[in-house]
Amino acid sequence: MQAVVYDRYGAPDVLRLEEVPTPSPAAGQVRIRVVATSINLSDWECLRGTPAYARIGGLRAPARHTLGSDIAGVVDAVGEGVTRFRPGDEVYGDNLGLKGGFAEYAIAPESVLAHKPTQLTFAQASTIPQSGAIALQGTQGAAADRRALINGAGGGTGPFAIQLAKRLGAHVTGVDNAGKLDFMRSVGADEVIDYRRDDFTRTAPYDLILDLVAHRSVFAYRRALVRGGRYRCVGGSVPTLLRVLTAGWVVGRSSGRAIDVLPVKEGPAYFEA
Ligand SMILES: NC(=O)c1ccc[n+]([C@@H]2O[C@H](COP(=O)([O-])OP(=O)(O)OC[C@H]3O[C@@H](n4cnc5c(N)ncnc54)[C@H](OP(=O)(O)O)[C@@H]3O)[C@@H](O)[C@H]2O)c1
Repeated sequence: MQAVVYDRYGAPDVLRLEEVPTPSPAAGQVRIRVVATSINLSDWECLRGTPAYARIGGLRAPARHTLGSDIAGVVDAVGEGVTRFRPGDEVYGDNLGLKGGFAEYAIAPESVLAHKPTQLTFAQASTIPQSGAIALQGTQGAAADRRALINGAGGGTGPFAIQLAKRLGAHVTGVDNAGKLDFMRSVGADEVIDYRRDDFTRTAPYDLILDLVAHRSVFAYRRALVRGGRYRCVGGSVPTLLRVLTAGWVVGRSSGRAIDVLPVKEGPAYFEA
């Protein structure tokens, strides 16, 4: 089969198209004929080998030679013990552990896959698993009469988060660069902020903040929340994430707010139709 492979971290030019052996599913695994794949920030991080956590399992060279976590396709073969899928099933999922979507065939554990809803094309389905799961978990607590803010809302996860928070009735503010303001409005944001012009921690206080690109101090996040409000981050600089995990808890607790890192749970339960 053909696959896009790489064997050292670097810029996109380390990727090359090659003929490689078609993999066989082991027990509990499924082989998928890939119809569509999407690119997430996690693919970019594993290509570059940065931040440091992107090298877990492959300190000097990538452990997996074909990227592509989010896949949608047709089950082609199943390993021993697989009970939920059979050849011909249309599936999608976030194959973060094994990756391999940038190829004609990919191997995934049965546990990461769900049946693709018939009303979605393969391309549409391939955009959902990783970003959709983060957005769904990150917007829990949004509700009518609550002000929700999504920082970095114009990227992969944000548009899902805007729509989910709106569906729960919240008043939603999206923050991103000027070129994405119209796009955020088009998917439902009530208000938009250009992060290069305005600092959202100095505008109105919010009930719920989902931060996809955290890089501020925990005191700024405290300032941005109403009493009883909740800030959760899921991406950003490693020092900020560490500060939120430690000082965030203390500063939040002592001021009647919750400031923490969203513990993302993966798996089809978060995007199954
Ligand atoms: N298990 C997990 O916890 C898990 C799994 C997967 C992913 N993640 C994380 O979840 C996050 C998901 O984000 P994503 O997929 O939506 O990423 P993305 O597609 O890269 O989107 C991020 C958006 O934020 C914007 N941005 C950059 N700097 C900003 C700033 N200072 N203020 C406001 N917006 C800014 C970017 O715009 P520009 O064009 O201006 O850069 C971009 O539109 C990532 O941080 C990823 O690392 C976590």
